[in-house]
Amino acid sequence: MDSMSSGPSGTLGTFPAQQESGIFEKCTRFTRADELKACGLYPYQRVIETGQDTEVTVNGQRMLMLGSNSYLELTTHPRIKAASAAAIQKYGSGCAGSRFLNGTLPIHLELERRLADLVGKEAALVFPTGFQTNTGVVAALVHQGEYVVVDKYIHACILDGCALSQGTLVRFNHNDMADLEEKLARIAPEANKLIITDGVFSMEGDICRLPELVRLARANGAQVMVDDAHGIGVLGPGGAGTAAHFGLTGQVDLIMGTFSKSLGAIGGFIAASERVINYLMHFARPFMFSASASPASVAAVLAALDVMAEEPERIRRMWDNARFLKGGFDELGFDTGQSDSPIIPIMVGDAERCLAMWDFLRKEGIFVNPVLPPGVPPGRCMIRISVTAGHTREQLSWALERFAKAGQAFDLLRPMS
Ligand SMILES: Cc1ncc(COP(=O)(O)O)c(C=O)c1O
Repeated sequence: MDSMSSGPSGTLGTFPAQQESGIFEKCTRFTRADELKACGLYPYQRVIETGQDTEVTVNGQRMLMLGSNSYLELTTHPRIKAASAAAIQKYGSGCAGSRFLNGTLPIHLELERRLADLVGKEAALVFPTGFQTNTGVVAALVHQGEYVVVDKYIHACILDGCALSQGTLVRFNHNDMADLEEKLARIAPEANKLIITDGVFSMEGDICRLPELVRLARANGAQVMVDDAHGIGVLGPGGAGTAAHFGLTGQVDLIMGTFSKSLGAIGGFIAASERVINYLMHFARPFMFSASASPASVAAVLAALDVMAEEPERIRRMWDNARFLKGGFDELGFDTGQSDSPIIPIMVGDAERCLAMWDFLRKEGIFVNPVLPPGVPPGRCMIRISVTAGHTREQLSWALERFAKAGQAFDLLRPMS
């Protein structure tokens, strides 16, 4: 090997593979990514050379995109792109400061009003990302001596928010209300507690059991937060989300959403009562100390809300596609768990098999995401498929034929009972 080539796979660029020491010693020991690259099975950071459409180009290969969270197919909508471009013309490419100081524009305030109205809360606050929304909200609200009680499959950013907070973290089994009841019973009745669940779970695609959760919260004097990253634009009247879907908006104290899925941009928000939003505005650190969402993103989301209201058939089409594809997988005999959304997992089991199946589908021209630890517990690896309003029946039927081949190759097909 020439001295200017790199580690095992030659993927570390032109620098020699160094033995790092001290605090960096762990970096030398971490070789898993290089091993996967060496055998062509590294599934991350694939470079997509086209827009987030139903078909994309990766490394010159045309692929059917079944791994995007753009559920309503809004990232490429001409009106939304035009609104974004117009905002750049008017306000420039960035705000050069946090919302707290010089980074608040009229369109931030307009968007907060629109989002609060969409989900049915008094007020809302926009953050630079969904991730920061969750870490900021949880860390600001949960203090020492208080509890945050979360579903085991909650998103990583809620867990990071818990780690940043001074409170005590309690986890209940996924969507298991008996376990939640038991965990709540172990906490002193007078202690403050916040229960957090995803509305639609990001990997499993199942919907939280909100009515039972809300009942337990009320019985135990707890407040409720729903992370509706995958529920906004998907569930509820007009895409208002999971709480609206169950008619429980008044019972959910905090509704979180992100712009990076259905709403086709980047950023996040929390909606709640005026008092709570006023508090978060002054204590949620990512709101105070991180640069505000860019004019392009904020304008895109405002236009996305218009399109969502004016083109309700998008939500219908997305659901038709989700049911068609899940029905096809079930008929073939795949295990798709409890999915009831545009997110459809195919349960595969161990990581090696999951990567091999991902590679098989890639070679067939299908872009999907393998979900491996730490995204899921070991042994629960899955191929995560997501469908959008933009997919045609031809595309989905074409995909099902290829999934059938993969299912046979990896012995994943069980006849429906
Ligand atoms: C359930 C859930 N919450 C929060 C986030 C973070 O949102 P964003 O990626 O927009 O920062 C995600 C994104 O993957 C998510 O799936």
